[in-house]
This record gives sequence, C-alpha cells and structure tokens, in this order.
Amino acid sequence: MAKPLNIGMIGYGFMGRAHSNAYCTVSNFFDLEYEPVLKAACARSEEKVKDFADNWGYQSIETDWRKLIARDDIDVIDICTPNNLHREIALAAAAAGKMILCEKPLAMDAAEGEEMCEAVEKAGVANMVWYNYRRVPAVTLAKQLIDEGRLGRIFHYRSNFLQDWTISDDLPQGGAALWRLDAEAAGSGVTGDLLAHCIDTAIWLNGAVKDVSAMTETFIKERMHNLTGKVEPVNIDDACAFLAHFNNDSLAIFESTRYARGHKALYTLEINGEHASIAWDLHDLHRLSYFDHRDDSIVRGWRSVHVTDGDMPYMDKWWVPGLQIGYEHSFVHHVADFIEGVASGTPAGPTFRDALETQKVCDAVLKSAASRQWENV
Ligand SMILES: NC(=O)c1ccc[n+]([C@@H]2O[C@H](COP(=O)([O-])OP(=O)(O)OC[C@H]3O[C@@H](n4cnc5c(N)ncnc54)[C@H](O)[C@@H]3O)[C@@H](O)[C@H]2O)c1
Repeated sequence: MAKPLNIGMIGYGFMGRAHSNAYCTVSNFFDLEYEPVLKAACARSEEKVKDFADNWGYQSIETDWRKLIARDDIDVIDICTPNNLHREIALAAAAAGKMILCEKPLAMDAAEGEEMCEAVEKAGVANMVWYNYRRVPAVTLAKQLIDEGRLGRIFHYRSNFLQDWTISDDLPQGGAALWRLDAEAAGSGVTGDLLAHCIDTAIWLNGAVKDVSAMTETFIKERMHNLTGKVEPVNIDDACAFLAHFNNDSLAIFESTRYARGHKALYTLEINGEHASIAWDLHDLHRLSYFDHRDDSIVRGWRSVHVTDGDMPYMDKWWVPGLQIGYEHSFVHHVADFIEGVASGTPAGPTFRDALETQKVCDAVLKSAASRQWENV
C-alpha cells in the first residue's frame, strides 16, 4: 500500500493543469512507494481556485501561498507561478521543510538560483525542476544511445524552439495571460522561456556548456501594459540565437523566436557524432530519427524509430507496442522519477543544482547579446 504524498499546488494555469493531471495518473501506471494526494490548490482568486480544485479533485484551497506552506498536512510544494515568484516561494517552502517541485526556469537569474540551491540544500529537502522534455521517451532514448557510445565522439548539437504567437503589435504585455512578455515577471523572453528547455536537454545529453556568443532582438519595442494601462517599453528578448562550445569541444547552435510564422511549439534537436546522428522533433515526439554510418551501405539511411516498444524508456508502463503516448506523459514520468528518488534516497534530476547550470547558460547568453562578445558560462 503506497504512502500518501500530500501535494500543495500553487497556480492553476497551464502547468497547474499539466502537473495535476500527472499526480492523478501516475499511481495508476507506476508502482511507487508514495501516492500523490491532491491536498490543496492555491491561487489569489478564491472563485477561480475553487473551480480548479473542484475540477481536479483537490481537497481544499488557499488564496495565500504563505498559508499553504504553513500547513502541516502538506509534504510537497509545487510552484507553478510566473518566474518572479519562484525564489520567494521556494525559500519559504525550504525553510518550512517542504519538498519542492519548481517550474522552469529555476529563477530570474543565476544569483537567485544559487540562493534557492543553498536554501534547499541547507534544509535537506527533496527538490526538482520541471524540465519535462528529458522524460519524453524518445529524448530519454537519445540519452541512452549517447551514453552507450553509439554516436561516438560528438561534433555538433543544434536545437531550435520556434513559436509565432507574439507577432501582432497590438498584443499587450503583462498581467495574467501575458506575463511572459513582461520582463518584471518573466526575467527574460525566449531565452528563459524556451531556450532554457533546449539548454537543459543539451547539458543532459552532451555535458556542460563552456562559452556562448549570442544575439537577441526585440522586434516590437513598445506594447500596452495590462497592469498600468500605459504603452511601455518591451524589455524581453523576442528572439535569440547563440553559438556555444561544450566542454567536450563539440559545437552548438541554438535558436528561439516567437516570430516564426507557422510554428507553434517546434522544439527540435539534432546531434551529429562520429558514427551516428540523432534528431528529434516535438511535433512528432514519439519518434526518434537515427542514422548509423556503420550500417551496410545498401540499407544505410535515416530510420524513424517509433518509440513504443516495451524495452524503450518508460514504455513498459503504458499500452502495447505500436501505441504511442504524448506530451502530458512527460509530466507523469517526471512525478514517477521524483517519487522514486524520494523513496530510494537518490534524487532524480534535474535538481535545483542541476537547473542552476541552465540558468548560468541563460545569463551568459543575455550577457553576450548585450556585450556582443563571447562570454564564459
Ligand atoms: N515545463 C514546461 O514545459 C512549462 C510550460 C509552460 C510554463 N512553464 C513554467 O510554469 C510556470 C507557470 O507558467 P504557466 O504557463 O502555467 O502560467 P499561467 O499564466 O498559465 O499560470 C500561472 C498561475 O500562477 C498563478 N499566480 C500568479 N501569481 C500568484 C500568486 N501571487 N499567488 C498564487 N498564485 C499566483 C496564476 O493565478 C496562475 O494560475 C512558469 O514558470 C513557466 O515558465 C513550464
């Protein structure tokens, strides 16, 4: 019989829903020592948080996250708020001895992130950051292939995250739905929002990033601010592209924008090694493309591996071979691995400390874009 793990969720937006779905599902598919219990949901609007709690089956609500953290019946605080609240909530949760699952990016910058790492380490509480793309089975399989040495020495890493939802110049910035366009709430634009995912996956697959050379652009310089009602400067990066060296001497090129007409969430990565290459695309997330130069020349070519077999990462937990899973399952895997980490005492990554590495790369990227120089991470 699994022991209860009482969840206190802060935020009922996109991630509040994705995580709640994962907590509801995980114990039906994974055999775990702890079972998440939807103990309390918290957000500022009582009416909206009550609707959310009723919909997902949370047992209670709070409208002040400090009260949630003060409750003795909460084991885990899940931070699903805009980025500018991650630090304050995490520090308070750590001081109260709660385990913490924090949305990405870890913090507004690396200095905040370091403070958060020290807080959870001092408190000795389990902690993890929701870089969920690591747990898409095809991406986890890519990690397995690289770790087995199938690619050999890695030469190139290229990754994109393209969207097109901010092209209109009458789109406002700030407030509930558009905090991502407000640097005060988001910290940065596509760098912290989208490239952070690409960087986390890259570090996980190919090791640490040494230095970067970046350019950013803000195409629409002023937008009406939802909180002040005034037209105000836009201080986030609308687009960012950067070059990087990894510590293993491979080269990288990363690009992200919200101005790529026709692309909604096109996260792609390609890695070229001495013997083989792999490629992955979020729009076709259950497939991994693989090319192996060691194949006989008459059958050599890119294979599209349908990642559904029981011996592929996580897939023995789901349906039968041939039947794929989707985006939401990456969050279920994240929760399962977090719980296994808590039960075994070997924390699952990315911990706050792991996610700080991504934050440092983001900081170096923004610094390089401003200085127009290469910057060390
Ligand atoms: N892992 C991923 O793929 C992924 C995807 C989207 C967002 N995110 C991250 O998740 C976080 C939330 O993003 P989202 O898309 O869910 O945002 P959202 O705007 O959909 O939801 C934010 C929630 O925070 C709540 N909130 C804001 N201020 C609050 C306060 N003071 N107290 C309590 N609640 C408060 C809002 O009411 C809302 O419910 C961000 O850090 C974002 O970067 C991660």
